[in-house]
Amino acid sequence: MPAAPQSLPPLPVAPPPRIVLRGGRSLERADAKRAESAAAAINASRQHLLPWMPWAAEPATGAGMATFFSAADLLWEQRQDFTYSMLDPAGSVIGGCGLHNRLGPGALEIGYWVRLEAAGSGLATEAAAALTAAGLGLESVARLEIRCEEHNHRSARVPEKLGYTFGGLVVPTTGPTAGSSMQIWVTTEPEWAARAP
Ligand SMILES: CC(C)(COP(=O)(O)OP(=O)(O)OC[C@H]1O[C@@H](n2cnc3c(N)ncnc32)[C@H](O)[C@@H]1OP(=O)(O)O)[C@@H](O)C(=O)NCCC(=O)NCCS
Repeated sequence: MPAAPQSLPPLPVAPPPRIVLRGGRSLERADAKRAESAAAAINASRQHLLPWMPWAAEPATGAGMATFFSAADLLWEQRQDFTYSMLDPAGSVIGGCGLHNRLGPGALEIGYWVRLEAAGSGLATEAAAALTAAGLGLESVARLEIRCEEHNHRSARVPEKLGYTFGGLVVPTTGPTAGSSMQIWVTTEPEWAARAP
């Protein structure tokens, strides 16, 4: 299952729990009622996820995802971290994403994964755009980052297409990506506003 979100000081307000995307797809606040659907999406995509998401090493289970979503739900309630499921028009899980409060005050990090069958259709880019607007719409948030491994070129295309600025490579010493060379992509409220149509 995805890594448990970390707990940091709460934000004054939470982002919207539901964000509508094109074609009837949506981002919905994580909910344990979608645990089986999320486990199925992960298990249909493990080979595609595994190079970049270490949690895909083991098959996902409904019980495990329910535990993860319940923890995420509590963190959302406490305005500490914001995990969404990506849903198709029928309400099935086709990915996951979030606004993660692990960069310190004034900044959030966007993360995402997409079910194999839904990849390549612009979903991650549309979701990240929506989360960027939602995150920067929070009064306490001035900067958003997207981080991906140095060689995850597909993931890096997402912030690149959205006009984020490449901020260089870092090798974290702690956390789930400790020891890996990570690309950092950044945008700020004025930069994002200047790109708005
Ligand atoms: C990375 C990921 C989220 C992208 O999702 P997606 O919905 O397919 O993304 P999009 O369709 O919005 O854009 C993908 C871009 O990558 C490009 N791409 C696809 N395969 C690629 C490859 N092998 N090398 C480089 N770019 C590639 C696509 O062409 C597209 O760019 P384009 O619009 O310029 O053509 C998805 O592939 C995924 O879940 N990967 C595994 C988990 C992961 O890496 N998560 C991110 C961790 S930081």
